[in-house]
Amino acid sequence: MDGNALIGILYYTFMYYLPAMTANATPVFIRRGRPIDARKTFVDGRRILGDGKTYEGLIVGTYFGITVILAYVIIAGNISYFYWGIPSVIGALLGDMLGSFIKRRLDIPRGGKAFLLDQLDFFFGATIGIIIGGVLLDIYVILCGLIIIVALHVITNRIAYELKLKDVPW
Ligand code: CTP
Ligand code: MG
Repeated sequence: MDGNALIGILYYTFMYYLPAMTANATPVFIRRGRPIDARKTFVDGRRILGDGKTYEGLIVGTYFGITVILAYVIIAGNISYFYWGIPSVIGALLGDMLGSFIKRRLDIPRGGKAFLLDQLDFFFGATIGIIIGGVLLDIYVILCGLIIIVALHVITNRIAYELKLKDVPW
């Protein structure tokens, strides 16, 4: 693979996944909101989603995710970015909720660690959203997104640990 091909893959990876990454990252500023599951429990007696999934988080994530797409539309002068961008943002937020649903079923508490599931739940939702939006995503772009997102989490958590913002380096 030559350098230009790699740069092309990186370019498309960031272009396609930035709205979803934004939608996934911005709800973290919501400390206390109204839980989507209304504090209800599932048939196994554990919370359906838990306190980490709130309506306020969905609103914040949707707002900032769509802001990124709007920037694309304005810069390119082309509204077609909305077609895959909006489903990617919705997909990311739904994927993140599905991840929490699975974690609760595995008896992992809100905020408890589930390596790969924590990093990739939104990514799978976003990928499905982009494809539903009519984009034939290149397999290398999907793989590149997967690697970058896991690497970004490991690096940012390490930095937060070194800065003593977190107690554990993961
Ligand atoms: N958040 C929110 N609403 C959402 C998604 C996220 O309010 N729909 C906020 C919550 O404060 C959450 C934080 O963003 O704690 C980080 O999100 P995430 O890592 O997905 O939640 P966790 O706290 O790790 O909970 P879970 O174990 O369910 O993943
Ligand atoms: Mg989490």
